[in-house]
Amino acid sequence: MNKFSYCNPTKLIFGKNTVEAITQEVPQYGKKVLVVYGGGSIKRNGLYDEVLNQLQKVGAEVFELAGVEPNPRISTARKGVNLCKEHGIEFLLAVGGGSVIDCTKLIAAGAKYDGDPWDLVTKKAQVEAALPFGTVLTIAATGSEMNSGSVITNWETKEKFGWGSPLTFPKFSILDPQNTFTVPLNHTVYGIVDMMSHVFEQYFHKTSNTPLQDRMCESVLQTVIEAAPKLIHDLHNYELRETILYSGTIALNGYLSVGAAGDWASHGIEHAVSAVHDIPHAGGLAILFPNWMKYTMHEKLDRFVQLAVRVWNVDPSGMSDEEIALEGIECVREFWSSIGAPSTLADYNIDETTIPVIADKAMLRGPFGNFKKLNREDVVAILQASL
Ligand code: NZQ
Ligand code: ZN
Repeated sequence: MNKFSYCNPTKLIFGKNTVEAITQEVPQYGKKVLVVYGGGSIKRNGLYDEVLNQLQKVGAEVFELAGVEPNPRISTARKGVNLCKEHGIEFLLAVGGGSVIDCTKLIAAGAKYDGDPWDLVTKKAQVEAALPFGTVLTIAATGSEMNSGSVITNWETKEKFGWGSPLTFPKFSILDPQNTFTVPLNHTVYGIVDMMSHVFEQYFHKTSNTPLQDRMCESVLQTVIEAAPKLIHDLHNYELRETILYSGTIALNGYLSVGAAGDWASHGIEHAVSAVHDIPHAGGLAILFPNWMKYTMHEKLDRFVQLAVRVWNVDPSGMSDEEIALEGIECVREFWSSIGAPSTLADYNIDETTIPVIADKAMLRGPFGNFKKLNREDVVAILQASL
């Protein structure tokens, strides 16, 4: 293991009807509250009314930013920052999925910064302060509810970058599985692919002696692999929603990767694909990740063999390590296809014509990936294999 320090300050409030906790949590931070939400799902399923009701009980002065888009835009974050500055907002409450939460993180930091919030995303400027914020999560996927990361798209420049700061952890996150009942099938599947991908990103590293981290990653994967096929046929099942919701949080709250640097190249390529084509984040991951695995497996074959045998129960007898690894990778692809995830870029009508543009976007910050450092040629090869 590498040396590490770990601190996750987010208070997780999990279970039925926990939205009531708003009345205890929010008053600690202020009266003027900006509620941030997406395209209207929370209005249709009644969560908006519930949240506002709780805020009313504590006499909060409520402002709103609606319409945060999936793959949230810098233009929307700028609107939020302006609202904060204009009205002296003291606290932000994100009610939604990863996109709403990520946008809220940038608004929180942008409200305390004098320049354009895009500077914080591109790292032209450092985050030096941020407004406090909390979340009411509505979809199991990104882990943004318990981490400090955020991913923002600039549609004018067709750039999508991740950024984050120790100051952009939510103060609290409220997770009631009931609030995920209305997530449609396609987004339920994307969420499952995303959380599994987060585990893979952290599992593929070259650090030795991480037996507990390995077993924890494998447990999350096995739990999701067991629950997901049942959930897609039973979207209102509380226990299954509960299992998947908690899995998504654990998959990316930092705990699985202590002592070892994860890879994150598949996410890097996917962010470039969705910057150019605006496809769902995990739709892109489902296509790219197995191809990244095949491309890089010889870097450290034993990680792939271990995954195949322990998670996918591949019987290794009479097989070479390469065959075992390949069978494990095939299991990933088959599992995702079996729950309805896409498997080729053609599923989104993306062909070879935009590969050079996507590769250029992916390379904007130079070679990337910790398990295998990818250069432009590598990125193009993975994209070609994904057509
Ligand atoms: O906008 P509304 O109307 O709310 O609809 C959303 C949206 O259309 C809908 N939805 C969410 N909860 C629902 C619901 N519909 C019905 N009932 C509910 N309860 O689902 C759609 C997708 O929502 P979104 O927030 O975009 O999904 P997700 O949580 O997957 O977030 C994706 C974004 O997070 C970034 C991605 O790149 C992408 O921009 N990521 C953030 C990470 C992080 N901060 O740690 C890590 C991830 O790897 C990822 O890159
Ligand atoms: Zn992801």
